[in-house]
Amino acid sequence: MKVAVLGAAGGIGQALSLLLKTQLPAGSELSLYDVAPVVPGVAVDLSHIPTDVKVQGFGKDDLASALVGSDIVLIPAGVPRKPGMDRSDLFNMNAGIVKNLVEGIADNCPDACIGIITNPVNTTVPIAREVLKQRGCYNKNKLFGVTTLDVIRSEAFVAELRGLNPANVTVPVIGGHSGTTILPLLSQVEGVSFTDEEIKALTHRIQNAGTEVVEAKAGGGSATLSMGQAAARFCLSLVKALEGQSVVECTYVDGGSEHAEFFAQPVRLGKGGVEEVLPYGEISAFEKQCMNDMLEGLKGDIQKGIDFVS
Ligand code: NAD
Ligand code: LMR
Repeated sequence: MKVAVLGAAGGIGQALSLLLKTQLPAGSELSLYDVAPVVPGVAVDLSHIPTDVKVQGFGKDDLASALVGSDIVLIPAGVPRKPGMDRSDLFNMNAGIVKNLVEGIADNCPDACIGIITNPVNTTVPIAREVLKQRGCYNKNKLFGVTTLDVIRSEAFVAELRGLNPANVTVPVIGGHSGTTILPLLSQVEGVSFTDEEIKALTHRIQNAGTEVVEAKAGGGSATLSMGQAAARFCLSLVKALEGQSVVECTYVDGGSEHAEFFAQPVRLGKGGVEEVLPYGEISAFEKQCMNDMLEGLKGDIQKGIDFVS
């Protein structure tokens, strides 16, 4: 299994690469690409950890070598938010970065599974689709917006509120990855019930958790360590799936929803990437209202990505 991380020298990229160096199956390869000159050093640093995962670093002129033969490409390259910004404010800086990197994927490893982390995810994933379509190599089963951070946050916050072991808490999160488009299905948390006030407060906290980190870092960036963990969880699930196990993760994918062209919901992963987009089941009246209120915004975010490429 070869995994490439594009943006590997950044806050997310380094945390993610560390977790993958220690947790990918023996015999895997980890390919680190970044435009920052420190990337070969990050690779050397990681290579001193004694696991059977080969690490190589590639600088800005070496995208092709970084990508050739990759089974999975994760993209955390781009600019993070500062206090006062919305994720959509990153569009001008990050749209072009994602477009260029996905063109590189189309040229060098068109069959790879692609996990997009770069914000605004609601828009950068449609950008990736349009680029791959233009290049004639789009496979909707292999393109993912990584929304796992919303899932792990929901698990952490529910466990904290109820004094539970987070390992035993599962919370599906559907929709997109920005503000109110993040819709945690708290009505589906097994064995736990909440008052209406708790549901409102928890939903609001999960939807604004990214901003909570951005403000706490006070201009020093956004979530990197929790995102590294979230992306590693998603990647390791994908590795298991590509190796033949059936694994379910919530992720933002194309074509599985009646609500919008791209939508995050539980997805069964398998050897070919998306095996089945699963129904998200019964939702509460509150969740239905949240869904209705956010759909127009989500569709607008998606259209912006399509327009950018066309
Ligand atoms: P960072 O600034 O620490 O790192 C970004 C890295 O990308 C840098 O090393 C930079 O050199 C590199 N880069 C820039 N342009 C590049 C290019 N063309 N090719 C390769 N590398 C390039 O930022 P970060 O905190 O790691 O965040 C990265 C992105 O992830 C941001 O857009 C942020 O909003 C997003 N993010 C998404 C989620 C999510 O849940 N999906 C969570 C947190 C952050
Ligand atoms: C997050 O949810 O933490 C990320 O999308 C980064 C951000 O800008 O909030």
